[in-house]
Amino acid sequence: MGIADPSKRLEAMPPYKFQELERQIADKRAAGIDVISLGIGDPDGPTYPYIVKAMQEAVADPATHQYPSNRGRDDFRQAFAEFYDQRFGVEIDPETEVIPAIGAKECIYNLCFAFLDPGDVALASDPGYPVYTGGPILANATPELLPLVPELGFAPDLSAVPADVAAKARLMFINYPNNPTGAVAPEGFFEMVVSFAREHEILVVHDNAYSETTYDGYVAPSFLSTPGAKEVGVEVFSLSKGFNMTGWRCAAILGNAEAIQTYWRLKTNVDSGLYEAVQVAGAAALLGPRGPLERMNETYARRRDLVVGALREIGVEVKAPKGTIYVWAPVPSGHTSTSFCEAVLEEAAVVISPGSMYGPSGEGFFRISLTTPDDRIEEAVERMREHLS
Ligand SMILES: Cc1ncc(COP(=O)(O)O)c(C=O)c1O
Repeated sequence: MGIADPSKRLEAMPPYKFQELERQIADKRAAGIDVISLGIGDPDGPTYPYIVKAMQEAVADPATHQYPSNRGRDDFRQAFAEFYDQRFGVEIDPETEVIPAIGAKECIYNLCFAFLDPGDVALASDPGYPVYTGGPILANATPELLPLVPELGFAPDLSAVPADVAAKARLMFINYPNNPTGAVAPEGFFEMVVSFAREHEILVVHDNAYSETTYDGYVAPSFLSTPGAKEVGVEVFSLSKGFNMTGWRCAAILGNAEAIQTYWRLKTNVDSGLYEAVQVAGAAALLGPRGPLERMNETYARRRDLVVGALREIGVEVKAPKGTIYVWAPVPSGHTSTSFCEAVLEEAAVVISPGSMYGPSGEGFFRISLTTPDDRIEEAVERMREHLS
């Protein structure tokens, strides 16, 4: 055993699927080719000015310079309570039903360590955000996949979960508006989740990373607005995408008070809380004007229409998503996800993500991210039209 050998649990992690594509991109760039990346879901717009201003003032205040508590500042928890009330009609007790998280990724990962023992199962949307499977694997538990298929509006068929799997399941990860499919929660789906979770005593984790990024008048609900949701679930709300704050690591977990207490117990052993100035800025973001967010959504909608239009022109049957920053589309026949993405890179020098990166049910699809400036998206779309028609 070498000093740098990974633990068995790290060894058990699936290989990083983007590796080969990244190598090809690097080779192309080294050869002087202008590669346009539509791969990563990282908003290209800056954080809105009123949030930056709140941060600048908070950083200058020495009261924010010491260790924060994992419970979070009163004004942060209060801002979430107000936001959830006004935006979703959900009542949150700021004392017991919300604490900060250092981004949704941290929260999802640590929930696995707070709730899963070896032999336990976590139900994970497939395709899905990779931590829904990586977290359970690292916690020595077993992720069981919930396939999301277009026929069911990219919602899992809960009646298809085998009884023995449901009996071992302790956590269930769902996410609407959904990455990578762009789907929004079908009517009645959250209600089904609540009754399934009640029946099998599963803690539902709704990853709400995209509720503020929606189009065509669609307004995304909180999972917690479903009757009974707080009895069986928590919601992770990230400010990363809607508020252009991916770099800030600002999120919160809300909902079931006992589950939040358990997560907090784990966290006190792992990290030392969310920087207080970020909490001040996060509170300002939640309670600030909606205008910048609406303008950002108009920008994404314009880009979405551009991408969807071009894909349809080259014969790809694609639905325009009502939410998220992604277009999810089937690969042309004769291709796998990977072979199509490689062909697009080879012929058009445009990077798109193979659906298989997000789980086996993503095979046969590709994902385009809308987080690239308009002129580059236009150029990418033009190249795809030219080379793939
Ligand atoms: C569904 C989903 N959850 C969580 C995250 C990460 O959120 P955060 O930046 O708060 O860690 C992402 C980022 O791509 C995501 O797509």
